[in-house]
Formats: sequence, structure tokens, C-alpha cells
Amino acid sequence: MKKIIIGNFKMNTKPSELKPYAMSLATKTKGSKNDIIICPPYTHLSVAREFLTGSGVAYGAQNISDEEKGALTGEISASMIKDLGATYVIIGHSERRAKFKETDRLVNRKIKTALANGLKVILCVGESLQIRENRQAYAFIKKELDDDLKGIYENELDSVIIAYEPIWAIGTGKTATNKDIIKMIETIRKEVEYLYSEKAGKELSVVYGGSVNLNNYKKILSNETVNGVLVGGACLDVDAFAVMCRENY
Ligand code: PGA
Repeated sequence: MKKIIIGNFKMNTKPSELKPYAMSLATKTKGSKNDIIICPPYTHLSVAREFLTGSGVAYGAQNISDEEKGALTGEISASMIKDLGATYVIIGHSERRAKFKETDRLVNRKIKTALANGLKVILCVGESLQIRENRQAYAFIKKELDDDLKGIYENELDSVIIAYEPIWAIGTGKTATNKDIIKMIETIRKEVEYLYSEKAGKELSVVYGGSVNLNNYKKILSNETVNGVLVGGACLDVDAFAVMCRENY
């Protein structure tokens, strides 16, 4: 079955390092049936365009402004990344929510701006350890989805991938158990079913992220309800990432 394999570079690597990475990934994953997406820093996107156009590897950014243009020093707009051939953008990553104080309202506006510019959205949701320990994880994720997807039409969900990323599993080496991942992804589908329709819940693309690596990716992806993975640290090693990308699931 086809899976979605997303690499999130975060603030790692230099633009000049993307050329060998991109060429190697494109070669190693040639013929793969999976959807392969990398999200390097903005500064790498023109390199991605040069070396990934026409390959089976799509690329995107890790953030955008919610505004279209204007006096916003240091911001990058959806149309700018689109102009560099980006197809995707990650929105609402927990690092942005925590460190840059991104609220659900802002995340919602960014999603609308991305979709209006023809970008596909990778929307990250996930609970903290405290929320999980207080047994509020399911209610928390449902509310995140309700707020983040407010005003998004059902036909736009084709352009949205939900990434379930429990915050306590990101960069910690501790993945959620398969049982927890499946239970949360089913909860996400149910919530989208409630917000839109049964069909929307069923057809929604939902991936898991949080310490995915060569030792655990197969097990995580073995369940049908898990449509893919969002890989942070482990995607920086092109050989390891290529293995996950070319696997026949
Ligand atoms: P990680 O990061 O794989 O390094 O845990 C995942 C993410 O933040 O998207």
C-alpha cells in the first residue's frame, strides 16, 4: 500500500548540502510507489527546485506567513514558496506553537492562506506529556482539529495531511506505542467524520511523527490507518531516509 513519507529537516543543514542529498534521494527512491516529500529550510528551496523537479520527490516549506504580503520584515509568504516550486507546507508544528507562540487561530489563518495559494498543508497536532498524563489527550486533539480546521471546506481536505505528533515523542527517542498511535488516528478520523462526513474521515490522510527511525518505521506503518510518517532527525541521513521511502508497504 502506498504511504506518505515526509522528511522535516527543521533548522539543520546548509543550502549547499541539499544538492548531494537531493540527487542521492532521487536516485535511491526512483520507482518508489510512495509519496515522498522533504521540507528543508526556506533557503534550500531553490536548490530543491533545481535538483528535484521531475524526480519522484516533492518538497515544501516548514512554515509560511498568514499574510499574503506587506510590511512584515523577516516573513515568507505562501506565494513565494509556491514560486520556488514547493507543493507542501508544514503548519502548526509543535515547535512553532511552543517557541513562537503560534495559536490555533493563527494556524487556522495559515492553512487558509496556504490553500488559497494552491499549496498542500501538513497540519501538525499533538498533545504534551502533561495533557496525556491528565488523560486529556483525546479531548485536546479534537479541539485542536476543530479550531485549526474552522472554515476549511470538505473538498479542501484533499489538500490536507494531518500529522499526529505527540510532543513528548518528538526528538526524544520515545515513540508512542502502536496501540496509542492507532487509537489517536482513529479519534482524528472520527472527529473529521463529525465535522464533515463519514467519507471525509475515511479518506483523510493521517501520518504519525515523533522519533520515527529505521528501527521502528515498519511497525508504525504496518497498520492500514497510518497513512505515513513525518520523520525529523532520522531524515537527515539520506541513506536511512531513502530506505523508508522505497519500502513496499
Ligand atoms: P523527530 O521529529 O523525528 O526528530 O522526533 C519529528 C518532527 O518534529 O516532525
